[in-house]
Amino acid sequence: MMRRMALALSLLAAPAAAGEIPAAERRSDTVTMSPELRAMQADDMANPASLWALDGQGLWGARAGSADKSCADCHGDARVSMKGVAARYPAFDANSGRVLDLEARINQCRSDRQGAAPLAMESRELLNLTTFVALQSRGEPIGSQDLRLAPAIEKGRQLFSARQGQLNLSCAICHDDNWGRKLGSATVPQAHPTGYPIYRLEWQSVGSLQRRLRNCMVGMRAEPYAFGSDEFIALEAFLMSRAQGLPVEAPAVRP
Ligand code: HEC
Ligand code: HEC
Repeated sequence: MMRRMALALSLLAAPAAAGEIPAAERRSDTVTMSPELRAMQADDMANPASLWALDGQGLWGARAGSADKSCADCHGDARVSMKGVAARYPAFDANSGRVLDLEARINQCRSDRQGAAPLAMESRELLNLTTFVALQSRGEPIGSQDLRLAPAIEKGRQLFSARQGQLNLSCAICHDDNWGRKLGSATVPQAHPTGYPIYRLEWQSVGSLQRRLRNCMVGMRAEPYAFGSDEFIALEAFLMSRAQGLPVEAPAVRP
């Protein structure tokens, strides 16, 4: 605890580069990983998240719910219908008037179109489907032109720069002002959500972006927002706008 506190305070004292990351310096933190982890991410046969994607492909074709329809019955070949979709999520959903992330969007189809119970956040099935859908956007540039996202992005920007938790830190202090520095054994990343869902070695599992953000909030000694909360959706929308133009790498591997 004291060591963490000292680290946090030394970060506060001496920002390496205050302010937003210049566009020319923006990059995925895949490049800061060891050659072994980069190779694991790049090779579908070695990337453990491929198992989740494969199971997701199975679910894509499986009928479910009172409508007895599969995703494929309506959306056909995911390589065509889902190409580029993950690159522009969270997205504004006109039906509910809300901003939804990919997990919430998939669950909306589960309940409204399939007539099935929504899948729990971080459940194996939801991660399978999300990984499979996200994979169809690999290499696509992140970005959405939908102006209806603006309020969520603005709210996310405020949450990102607000100090919170017992250590009185903000996301920005680490990810805008001190990226590239060592924090314990980890290098502080720029925090671009290019690879989600990710396979994280520490989890021995695939997990969502919200799970990753909860980990950071626990590290800040802050009370994590609830899964699916407006705060998390806003943070996700802001992070995606901040990563505009970077290619989707899902599913990425992280230490
Ligand atoms: C009965 C038909 C039907 C089924 C079954 C269905 N969907 Fe959909 N889905 C739609 C329609 C129609 C839309 C777009 C219109 C809307 O906003 O509802 C859509 C939209 C989507 C989107 C957003 C696409 C975008 O461009 O923003 C995703 C992602 C999605 N569905 C995933 C799934 C998944 C995964 C399943 C299976 C678990 C599924 N859907 C099952 C009809 C269906
Ligand atoms: C004390 C510094 C610190 C703070 C404050 C912090 N993080 Fe992080 N964050 C990290 C570190 C370190 C990692 C990488 C962890 C690892 O690899 O073990 C990380 C990882 C991430 C990632 C994953 C990036 C990738 O390449 O997959 C995202 C996204 C992220 N943080 C967002 C946030 C958000 C949003 C907040 C505020 C709610 C926040 N972080 C607060 C240090 C911080």
